[in-house]
Amino acid sequence: MKTASLLLLLPCASPFAFSPPPLRTSSSLPAVAVFFGTSTGNTEDVASLICAAYGCAGPFPIDEHEGSLADDFSKYDGLIVGTPTWNTGADSERSGTAWDELYYGEMGKLELGGKHVAVFGLGDSEGYAANYADASGELFEVFEKRGAVMFGGTDADGSYVHTASKAQRGGRFVGLMCDQMNQEELSEGRVDKWVKELKAKGFGEGGEAPAGEAAPAAAEPAAEKPAAAKPAPAPAAAAAGGGRIKGWTAYRSDEKRSTMYVNPENGREAYYVQDK
Ligand SMILES: Cc1cc2nc3c(=O)[nH]c(=O)nc-3n(C[C@H](O)[C@H](O)[C@H](O)COP(=O)(O)O)c2cc1C
Repeated sequence: MKTASLLLLLPCASPFAFSPPPLRTSSSLPAVAVFFGTSTGNTEDVASLICAAYGCAGPFPIDEHEGSLADDFSKYDGLIVGTPTWNTGADSERSGTAWDELYYGEMGKLELGGKHVAVFGLGDSEGYAANYADASGELFEVFEKRGAVMFGGTDADGSYVHTASKAQRGGRFVGLMCDQMNQEELSEGRVDKWVKELKAKGFGEGGEAPAGEAAPAAAEPAAEKPAAAKPAPAPAAAAAGGGRIKGWTAYRSDEKRSTMYVNPENGREAYYVQDK
């Protein structure tokens, strides 16, 4: 019996008792997770598409991680973070989600040196053409300032119809931009292409991003395309009849049996049309 106990104890005294953490082998996958904010669910829908395409953890609503961001982010080699844009007219904290509280509070203390981060954003490129997905630019900058290595820049190609965006630097967006209001049918294809690019570029595998991967740090103002024709004032357009008021964004409430039309010029002026 004595001998058996001794044998059981011996390995603890061996120099191999405290083995180093397992090294990542070329076949093991980096841990990647998606975190998102949302008001009406569109960003969550795209977050789910990304998770499905990537095969990563999440998607996690950011408001459920307030107070534990440092711990929660530290579990992953790569973070994919997403936001919608609301609060048109404000210069900062425009997401209209829990991100706004976190940017200059809890996140201000985070150390993300070397962490790989990619941003995606949601907006309404027709209704808010001059402010398309602006809040994604702020999300990018907050992570960049914390020392993250930014991945995921995309070309603002001809499939986008906006006129200006704070998420755009020159001809590049700082991440993946989607528009569930007007271009929902494009989202899945955009997501698949983006996820493939992230994986091909070594997202989550440590090290610097490939040259030219992220948008340049100093924001160049996006070249403004000619402004879209000014929408007709809502009451006049409504009086002219018809469900959709051209240029104004419609939000239908079955509960209130009314439709809210929001003015894309300022994002705050709204006009309600009650069902007849
Ligand atoms: C009052 C209001 C303001 C908005 N402001 C903007 C804006 O400035 N830029 C933009 O691209 N989209 C804007 N949108 C559109 C939202 O970003 C879009 O509906 C988005 O899909 C919402 O995402 P969520 O469902 O995840 O909250 C606004 C919508 C409303 C109702």
